[in-house]
Amino acid sequence: DGELCLSRSLVNSSDKIVRKAGSSIFQHNVEGWKINSSLVLEIRKNILRFLDAERDVSVVKSSFKPGDVIHYVLDRRRTLNISHDLHSLLPEVSPMKNRRFKTCAVVGNSGILLDSECGKEIDSHNFVIRCNLAPVVEFAADVGTKSDFITMNPSVVQRAFGGFRNESDREKFVHRLSMLNDSVLWIPAFMVKGGEKHVEWVNALILKNKLKVRTAYPSLRLIHAVRGYWLTNKVPIKRPSTGLLMYTLATRFCDEIHLYGFWPFPKDLNGKAVKYHYYDDLKYRYFSNASPHRMPLEFKTLNVLHNRGALKLTTGKCV
Ligand code: CTP
Repeated sequence: DGELCLSRSLVNSSDKIVRKAGSSIFQHNVEGWKINSSLVLEIRKNILRFLDAERDVSVVKSSFKPGDVIHYVLDRRRTLNISHDLHSLLPEVSPMKNRRFKTCAVVGNSGILLDSECGKEIDSHNFVIRCNLAPVVEFAADVGTKSDFITMNPSVVQRAFGGFRNESDREKFVHRLSMLNDSVLWIPAFMVKGGEKHVEWVNALILKNKLKVRTAYPSLRLIHAVRGYWLTNKVPIKRPSTGLLMYTLATRFCDEIHLYGFWPFPKDLNGKAVKYHYYDDLKYRYFSNASPHRMPLEFKTLNVLHNRGALKLTTGKCV
């Protein structure tokens, strides 16, 4: 009943196939692509059986009071206290309430975006979703600048902003957030222990600098619900990557979803090296068992959906 019909053999053999970037399984026809609106509606309806992105995209103020203790979603033995700062930044209502768009872009962070010249096309969509506070200004020609919704794993503070060790790291961060204006900043704060200090520092900087950004903190059930949806459709992911999470949420709000920057492979179809991120030197880690994600399998799934007209995947040049 409306399953994605990824054949069993396709899924089982995925790990072997994905090691051979260049295999025809990655080819997707861009010229002849057409949206399949009835499939889009069917997928939206099926995902709604697992989660309602309008609600699960963020907890709201009335869900908690300061001082409440909650269990981390992926580490139930450990707990987190809802601080005053965190509570004051919870939205009163879902920041996605009643928001609907004709076309959306979900921008992943693969180096495949470099030299793509996709910036204009990405910015032409009605709603643009980006991941992990990726920089845009220096890469505008390839990635665009519009950011209506941007995610930020707490680890980004360490990875891209020096753990806020000195004033210039903090200034750089505040500057990055001030460019977002009143876009949604989505912080998965309740997933695993380890980032709580970072989340508190981020919250304190937002409050101190009176930044306009609209903070959102995903519901405690979101990640399990998203995983449940994909598992039910025979896509055996471990933990959905941010990019897959964003596509899954976007099905609720967007009639046409265009994906850019999804390419979790070290080479392109012509054998040319591709950076893991378009903006830094982080290395590929998704083939290791330690990786929480199965991005190549996710990619293959998205590719199947592209070929069926449910979404449009762009991995080449836009002009
Ligand atoms: N991505 C991709 N190919 C890459 C890099 C990223 O398809 N080479 C997609 C993935 O869906 C990923 C998203 O782009 O979740 C955002 O990238 P990134 O910020 O690198 O995510 P990670 O920190 O690696 O993973 P996550 O936040 O999902 O834990």
